[in-house]
Amino acid sequence: MTQTLRSYDGAIARELFSAAEIARAIERLAIAIARDHRRQSLTLVGVLKGALYVAADLSRAISRVPDGPSDISVDYLCVSSYGNASRSSGEVRLLKDLSDPVGGRNVVIVEDIIDNGLTLQYLRALLGERKPTCLRACVLFDKPYHRSVEVPVEYVGLRAPDEFVVGYGLDYQELFRNLPYLAQLRPEVFTDG
Ligand code: PRP
Repeated sequence: MTQTLRSYDGAIARELFSAAEIARAIERLAIAIARDHRRQSLTLVGVLKGALYVAADLSRAISRVPDGPSDISVDYLCVSSYGNASRSSGEVRLLKDLSDPVGGRNVVIVEDIIDNGLTLQYLRALLGERKPTCLRACVLFDKPYHRSVEVPVEYVGLRAPDEFVVGYGLDYQELFRNLPYLAQLRPEVFTDG
């Protein structure tokens, strides 16, 4: 059971990456993705809910890179593995599928964070079965400390500390996603009982 968040005010312990640092990381990812898809079509697959912001910002950053992809489409699917707890259950569920087929497309899966790797492993298998021309993955925040599986990630933005983090799409009990920066919560805010 998870305790209810006591107070939003004062819940942030410290800022880990500022909005400006995140924006610079996204610019770096955009340049790498644009270079690898020069004059090719590109489909970004954002993984809801966490990748809502990174997929939106990344798609616009890629379009600003000169001589990048010939066209960019953005689609979203929705998976869940965490429920409302602060630790992964290890179970990945597809809650909403893509709107369009990805067969024959150059696809980059866009994630806000990778932790144990099970979500990305599931998504690579799911989308790989649909025979895209190319399938790569982009993760803004990497937490490499507790991988359950080895899964390739072609584009990595920033290494997050081994802490429960929120902001820029990441939530605690569906709160804090809208923070423009990545933050660590005070430990007393969340307690799994
Ligand atoms: C988070 C995150 C990734 C996944 C990564 O999603 O957005 O999709 O966990 O964790 P893993 O590498 O340990 O599998 P979550 O299930 O919390 O859903 P949300 O994006 O809706 O917050």
